Amino acid sequence: MTNTNVACYGDIDVERVLYTEDELKARVAELGKQITKDYAFTADQRAANGAPALLLVSVLRGAAVYMSDLARAIDLPLEMDYMAVSSYGTGVKSSGVVRILKDLSSNIEGRHVLIAEDILDSGLTLSYLIKMLESRNAASVEVAAFSVKDIPGKRPAVNPRYVGIHVPDEFVVGYGLDYAEHYRNLPYLGVLKPEVYEN
Ligand code: IMP
Ligand code: MG
Repeated sequence: MTNTNVACYGDIDVERVLYTEDELKARVAELGKQITKDYAFTADQRAANGAPALLLVSVLRGAAVYMSDLARAIDLPLEMDYMAVSSYGTGVKSSGVVRILKDLSSNIEGRHVLIAEDILDSGLTLSYLIKMLESRNAASVEVAAFSVKDIPGKRPAVNPRYVGIHVPDEFVVGYGLDYAEHYRNLPYLGVLKPEVYEN
């Protein structure tokens, strides 16, 4: 697909559009429908403080864009909460050991936690977080990944219950995903031109 039908500031740096805004919207709507079915049993359940039992969690910042769309595609009572983490180490690859910069505000004991993740690459960061959340005695912890990067011969450390789209093993931006904090607000998902980061 070419990006001839879009016009916005990022077009000049994007090699090709993988999913248009309309296609992303349609896919997130499908995910929301499936999640609504699967979690319908939580509709009448409440946490000790009266909050909905279903808790949608995103790891800042990339997944916030997707989670705000996903939340509105789920036709059930739910609470939204956010975490911020930083990976230890200086390498560009995840080490899988994370430091919590902002923890959840909510108590997750006995609740159904659904993590909205922007992109699963190695999945190391997420696998660490899942273990941490499970140790807090959540009733369940599952992942709704917006995208999974298909890397030949490799599988992410996490097996998400829901997957929105698969992306090729290239650097993608838009719909929350950044390069050096640029492009998060592009309405589509596209492959960044390598010359943008190969200087
Ligand atoms: P993982 O721990 O290797 O799965 O790292 C996943 C994180 O790396 C994501 O949450 C993104 O912040 C970032 N990331 C991985 N691939 C891309 C990409 O193609 N574009 C933008 N960010 C990416
Ligand atoms: Mg990032």
